[in-house]
Amino acid sequence: MAQQKIIILDFGSQTTQLIGRRLRELDTFCEILPYNKFPFEDEGIIGVILSGSPYSVYDPNAFKVDLSHIRGRYPILGICYGAQYMAQLYGGRVAPAVAREYGRAKLQKFDSNNPLFKGFKDDSQVWMSHGDTITALPDCFHSIASTDKVKYAAYQADDESLWGVQFHPEVFHSEQGSLLLKNFVVDICGSCQNWSATSFVESSVKALKTQLRNDRVILGLSGGVDSSVAAVLLNKAIGNNLTCVFVNHGLLRKGEYESVMRDYECLGLNVIGVDASERFISALKGISSPEEKRKIIGAKFIEVFEEESKKIDGVLWLAQGTIYPDCIESMNITGKLIKSHHNVGGLPERMQLKLCEPLRWLFKDEVRRVGRQLDMPEHLITRHPFPGPGLGVRILGEITHEKIHIIQEADEIFISALHQWHRSDGHSLYDEVWQAGAILLPVQSVGVMGDERTYEQAVVLRAVTSTDAMSADWAQLPYEFLAQVSNEIINSVKGINRVCYDISSKPPATIEWE
Ligand code: XMP
Repeated sequence: MAQQKIIILDFGSQTTQLIGRRLRELDTFCEILPYNKFPFEDEGIIGVILSGSPYSVYDPNAFKVDLSHIRGRYPILGICYGAQYMAQLYGGRVAPAVAREYGRAKLQKFDSNNPLFKGFKDDSQVWMSHGDTITALPDCFHSIASTDKVKYAAYQADDESLWGVQFHPEVFHSEQGSLLLKNFVVDICGSCQNWSATSFVESSVKALKTQLRNDRVILGLSGGVDSSVAAVLLNKAIGNNLTCVFVNHGLLRKGEYESVMRDYECLGLNVIGVDASERFISALKGISSPEEKRKIIGAKFIEVFEEESKKIDGVLWLAQGTIYPDCIESMNITGKLIKSHHNVGGLPERMQLKLCEPLRWLFKDEVRRVGRQLDMPEHLITRHPFPGPGLGVRILGEITHEKIHIIQEADEIFISALHQWHRSDGHSLYDEVWQAGAILLPVQSVGVMGDERTYEQAVVLRAVTSTDAMSADWAQLPYEFLAQVSNEIINSVKGINRVCYDISSKPPATIEWE
């Protein structure tokens, strides 16, 4: 049976990804596609959601799409702009709201018999965020909810499976938002809620076998969770036709190359380890600009990876551990939100390989669920994200062997302490934070050790909480913990006489310093 799915047409709202998230929480598979890219193949589609947008429907640049092949064929739910767009398209009117609607509002009169509101409590709160409002509904639509300020907070087309809501059910503050989405997805669209890590592994392995047949595939491992899960999944599907390459660019954490190689071997992966540290470090000599460093590391990586792939006969595919947020970021239709950390972008075209991305529909926590389903060790699954250029972007300014050594030592002390320190609920600080590391500053400061005056370098400790790295907050680590780590670093890492803790959130700061 084809995988059931809901299509979310993205009109550019910042909360589109959240709609996807909420649907996955309902164990329902969904695909977020640009507003004008509704798939030709309709296998498995059970419903359609139209997202919000930064535009007004009457803006000349507003995104418009012909819905004639969708209306009447699948249940539709328009959210905010999606609702206003359908109201206007089918003969209603939308105008700027007298007062911009932003924040919480109470759903007052709502039709409790409407399937969209099944189980709704009276006076439930919803989250509004719009500068326009529907002032007249099309003839064949009727209102099903209002707030004190918004007459048509929700509507349905008469005798049709077509709804619009001017609030955002996907946003956390919409108290009954998840219930509304559940009513739509499960009761109205008929989702069997059968998306799970087990079903994902089963269907992916089958699909990969069909897609790759007897072809040879190469995959670059980074030690991170995404590429590791992609490798184990592919290994399950095609076994030794998968060759993995793990390049040590000399900017990994202390001992990481050796420990990750051991992990990969234990997992039964066919992996080639390439220690190219000296090539990278000598190419970086004298370079201090962050962008230059990134470029050199990316280019060298491609060079080494290409050399290795030429040693394997008949490779046709390049596999990557790209995940859903990476795809959404790079395809954002308004062109506003692009942030590219794709260190090896362009690699498949250059090597003339076909691209295989088995995790491209998954969110990070789903990748972790799949990893567990594949019996991968917990420390690999819960490993923090680490940037591709590694310590290269955590040593501010020029990179030298000595600086790499210093930062590796300080980082190791910090990370081990995070693993060892447990809160009263049993959780380690390591598991509590999204990502952590030490940054070496290009400044020296005066200190005193014993009777000696010192003039040495400073490290910054950075630890953040986040769900997707798009925004992050500094982690509120216990003072005693910070004191212990600071003492240990200053006492045992030669060359450091000062430790700072970064208390900036993202935005406006970023997680990495370069
Ligand atoms: P920022 O510093 O932009 O980082 O807040 C967000 C997330 O991306 C990681 N990061 C990178 N990852 N290559 C990568 O593969 C890079 O050049 C790069 N720069 C930042 C960062 O560690 C965080 O998880």
